[in-house]
Amino acid sequence: MSRIAVVPGSFDPVTLGHLDVIERAAKTFDEVHVVVVHNPGKTALLPIAQRVSLIEQAVADARLAGTIRVTSWSMGLLVDYCTEVGASVIVKGIRSQVDVAYETPMAIVNRDLAAVETIFMLPNPAHAYVSSSLVRQVAALGGDVAPYVPRSVSDFLQAPRE
Ligand code: PNS
Repeated sequence: MSRIAVVPGSFDPVTLGHLDVIERAAKTFDEVHVVVVHNPGKTALLPIAQRVSLIEQAVADARLAGTIRVTSWSMGLLVDYCTEVGASVIVKGIRSQVDVAYETPMAIVNRDLAAVETIFMLPNPAHAYVSSSLVRQVAALGGDVAPYVPRSVSDFLQAPRE
């Protein structure tokens, strides 16, 4: 039976840290589903469909090995998506103790709800300080986000707007 892992998140926008975790998950599992989910606790910059498209481009550009599907989920609990596609594992990246504190309650709730286990992966330390919120801030103030995000994202954020 093929082992499917779900890598969920807001991905607003996807960063090099996210991409690093997606790549590690793809090396570890038969199939990886990158799932964009609206987080009501965060003010969104990009529409969900745009986030999906930027991740798709980034995954294609990085030529990652393995089977990676990029999608979104707005039909309720993340574990409902996991059950629907037969995924028993969620993969999350951990940069620091702050992330451990943020992720642990979600991991336990997801396990209680549907016996879906969460595996924490450590990204390359080079990405330890990269976050979508910092990227949003730098982009909004006209800074260069290229060191922190895939090419698809920096091109999109830095394209001139009408
Ligand atoms: O990148 P984020 O914002 O930290 O990702 C958080 C996210 C979207 C994965 C989380 O909020 C989530 O899973 N939301 C879906 C709703 C849900 O299942 N909630 C209960 C368990 S946390």
